[in-house]
Amino acid sequence: MMADIILLGRSGQVATAVAALAATTGRNIRQLARPAFDLSNPDSIAPALEPVLAAAAPGSVLVNATAYTDVNRAEAEPDLAHTLNALAPGILAENCRQAGMPLIHLSTDYVYDGTKGAPYVETDACNPLSVYGRTKLAGDEAVMRSGARHVILRTSAVYSATGKNFVRTMLELGRRQDHVRVVADQSTNPTAAANIATAILEIADRLAMGTPDGGVFHFCGDTSVSWADFATEIFGIAEGLGERAVQVGRIAAKEFASPAARPAFSVLDCGAIADRFGISQPDHGEALARAITLILAGGTTGDATKAC
Ligand SMILES: NC(=O)c1ccc[n+]([C@@H]2O[C@H](COP(=O)([O-])OP(=O)(O)OC[C@H]3O[C@@H](n4cnc5c(N)ncnc54)[C@H](OP(=O)(O)O)[C@@H]3O)[C@@H](O)[C@H]2O)c1
Repeated sequence: MMADIILLGRSGQVATAVAALAATTGRNIRQLARPAFDLSNPDSIAPALEPVLAAAAPGSVLVNATAYTDVNRAEAEPDLAHTLNALAPGILAENCRQAGMPLIHLSTDYVYDGTKGAPYVETDACNPLSVYGRTKLAGDEAVMRSGARHVILRTSAVYSATGKNFVRTMLELGRRQDHVRVVADQSTNPTAAANIATAILEIADRLAMGTPDGGVFHFCGDTSVSWADFATEIFGIAEGLGERAVQVGRIAAKEFASPAARPAFSVLDCGAIADRFGISQPDHGEALARAITLILAGGTTGDATKAC
């Protein structure tokens, strides 16, 4: 059964990828996004959502691809980050519970503190280091408490050919500089938004069929890298596609003035999603090469200044 999708978000990396994949597979999808659907006003959420959920076909699934994702700016805007990342998911989940509709919600490796020294499993204790991480964790907890059928997908270092992300930031810098300094003592698993979209739609179909398998699941690319190694890989692929060579200087996180603290090792173990849903970790190199090819073909790298 192919689930109908009600998708929250439009221009975001994951929202764009889910909409694109749904379109190529002929799946019914309805998108709710700003300005008509603005999560910064919590009182407006239920009135906007209720009629949409009530009119949805049986087997529909709500996918929340919205969030406040600017990790550094969240330190200066904790109230807005809390509204979007903590309050809004709770309201969405409560509406899903009332309508009997499953919810797929996105979360982050930044709910962990990165001190475990081994890949995190879903039952590990959370201890976020930043406003972004704390507000995302509060959102996860609100979804879990709601009583709605849900899957929370915790992912990491999302990139795509559109939007703000580390890959686009590096390609932009590489066009202006022949040397960049990148943090070498923080590791994560880069994940292509296109691969997240595939996982979301597979899970949506299972939820629409009534599978009871809900809860928190990790999903990320199959390779853990430091940001410096990731940058080296990006520049290597770009050079192979005709861009000029760029050297990566390896620095410690403490040398890089950043408002938000980030975990040193927030690698995610993806065994549970493989066991429950048969979803395996996507090939990192293949997805990265595809995204870089698309970005370079587009000829623009945009204003990409953050990675979360
Ligand atoms: N980016 C990462 O590296 C990363 C890493 C781990 C986890 N995640 C999680 O993955 C999910 C998707 O991230 P992403 O990278 O796709 O995010 P993104 O590219 O920053 O997109 C954010 C989305 O949120 C929507 N949004 C922001 N403020 C809103 C508001 N006031 N009202 C309604 N919608 C609003 C945006 O709406 P518009 O469509 O109107 O612009 C956009 O669609 C998030 O839950 C994030 O926490 C991301």
